[in-house]
Amino acid sequence: MTGEPFASAPYVVGKTAPKSAPQSDPVAFPPIPAEEALCPVVSHDWVNSEYKHLVVEASPKALSVSPGQFFNLLCPSPDVGELFFRRPQSVYRVNRRRSRIEFLYKCVGRGTRGLATLEKGDELNMVGPLGIGFKLDPAWRHIVVLGRGVGIATLGPISQLARDKDVGVTAILSARDQDFVMADTLFREAGDVVSVLDTDGSSAVENVEKILHGLIAQNRADAFFTCGSNRLLQLMKRLGKGHNIPGQVAMEQVMACGLGPCYVCVRTFEVDGKKELRRVCIEGPVFDMQEAVGW
Ligand SMILES: Cc1cc2nc3c(=O)[nH]c(=O)nc-3n(C[C@H](O)[C@H](O)[C@H](O)COP(=O)(O)OP(=O)(O)OC[C@H]3O[C@@H](n4cnc5c(N)ncnc54)[C@H](O)[C@@H]3O)c2cc1C
Ligand code: FES
Repeated sequence: MTGEPFASAPYVVGKTAPKSAPQSDPVAFPPIPAEEALCPVVSHDWVNSEYKHLVVEASPKALSVSPGQFFNLLCPSPDVGELFFRRPQSVYRVNRRRSRIEFLYKCVGRGTRGLATLEKGDELNMVGPLGIGFKLDPAWRHIVVLGRGVGIATLGPISQLARDKDVGVTAILSARDQDFVMADTLFREAGDVVSVLDTDGSSAVENVEKILHGLIAQNRADAFFTCGSNRLLQLMKRLGKGHNIPGQVAMEQVMACGLGPCYVCVRTFEVDGKKELRRVCIEGPVFDMQEAVGW
């Protein structure tokens, strides 16, 4: 075999030379949708007591990520032990002009605690972009995105894309308190933002339902998108079914390989009245809302 081998060393941002010639033989060089890349950290800051905002310089392939897709990140160990598995994180914002990808993540366990130790100039090993992301139908004029907790980050890129396509966006961001309404600047750039909080009771399902009814009545809900809360998924599913509004949900699930073979990430779905098992990493993480059973 001549030329570049199929299994290759990671792409090192800033060091790997651009491909010299197009690999035109699809058998010897099948197109690979994802790659392993070493991406320098540009900045890494706390946004509140639990979440960090990580910006990396990304490879050209990584920058081809579409909304809702994710990367499997090799997190440094936060202690003396090994961390065997990568941790999935969806992309929160893409800046193609500056070749940057941003993540907004919650520090919950060893992987994310290790990730949090990365400093400006360190390299982050990322595999991706992975999975099937959101779809935006050109016929839609106004979409509603509804996120809670870590799910808010995942809804960033679809809101950016909608804005770029002149589609109106209403973002309903549900959080414990104002400190956890993250990314509202990004969503404000894309459209209208409604924050609903636990502290004043506005995050209650009945209140979110009222807000959604209002948007439906104003014809500002051609499609629903959600991530991060089972009760909000069930609400959107019910309203979507009742009002014939299509919907998509980004599911989160503990993963091992992130590539399809291990079946660690299987969840149950319901298609035409029959239960089906699907892998979140490769058949998702974005699924038709009416087919998602929830968790
Ligand atoms: C496709 C996808 C996209 C994601 N995007 C984001 C994101 O943008 N921002 C963000 O903060 N998090 C995101 N997550 C969740 C993130 O992967 C987990 O929080 C992370 O893997 C936890 O690793 P850990 O080692 O720190 O915690 P662990 O020690 O592994 O676990 C700590 C706690 O987190 C739970 N947990 C572990 N893995 C997951 C998981 N994959 N999903 C949900 N809960 C988990 C565990 O059950 C446990 O309660 C995403 C997950 C998936 C599958
Ligand atoms: S994580 Fe291995 S198949 Fe999905």
